[in-house]
Amino acid sequence: MTTPGLFDDLEDDALPATQALASGAVLLRGFARARAGALLDGVSKVLAQAPLRHLVTPGGFRMSVAMSNCGPLGWVSDRSGYRYDANDPDSGRPWPAMPEVFAELADSAARAGGFDGFAPDACLINRYEPGTRLSLHQDRDEGHYDWPIVSVSLGLPAVFLFGGGRRSDKAQRVPLVHGDVVVWGGPSRLHYHGVLPVKDGVHPMTGACRINLTFRKAG
Ligand code: SIN
Ligand code: FE2
Repeated sequence: MTTPGLFDDLEDDALPATQALASGAVLLRGFARARAGALLDGVSKVLAQAPLRHLVTPGGFRMSVAMSNCGPLGWVSDRSGYRYDANDPDSGRPWPAMPEVFAELADSAARAGGFDGFAPDACLINRYEPGTRLSLHQDRDEGHYDWPIVSVSLGLPAVFLFGGGRRSDKAQRVPLVHGDVVVWGGPSRLHYHGVLPVKDGVHPMTGACRINLTFRKAG
């Protein structure tokens, strides 16, 4: 089991606040930490209306990451493909509104990453239990790539894989802890990325899981 609080403090002392990963891509260490409580309250409220679920890929595989969404558009997958939808397919109702604190954080992180005026219309909520991973993929269901992806890590740590424009490009291994934010856009907007299996542990704010919020401009 890890002691993430202690780990976070050590990370703070040892590592720079900002680390460039590629042209247009940056890790903002601890950027969301002060707002983590408010973000997690927002997550609870959204999930009360649109519970986490395991989507099925077009190929028929159940995704191990559990997902939900908030905002005008939500990312969904089923046997017919990947898409953004204004409604939660489980309830038939619009996705819950995006909490103000989410939109503010996404905008300020994008600005810190060099992208001014980010107004996301989609926030995917990902929950990783220990052992859960996300294989290398591109975020390209948005239909245009004018805006960055802003990705917020809460709870248990994970190793983020950040590759290049081709699946075969070697991926960097980027350790992410509670409160870290990764922004990628411009020349790296379509870079492959993924998450290695999350290790066992308990985080004081999330329990035995990692929560990731991924903000996009999808419409
Ligand atoms: C994603 O690619 O949608 C999520 C990335 C992450 O969990 O850090
Ligand atoms: Fe992604």
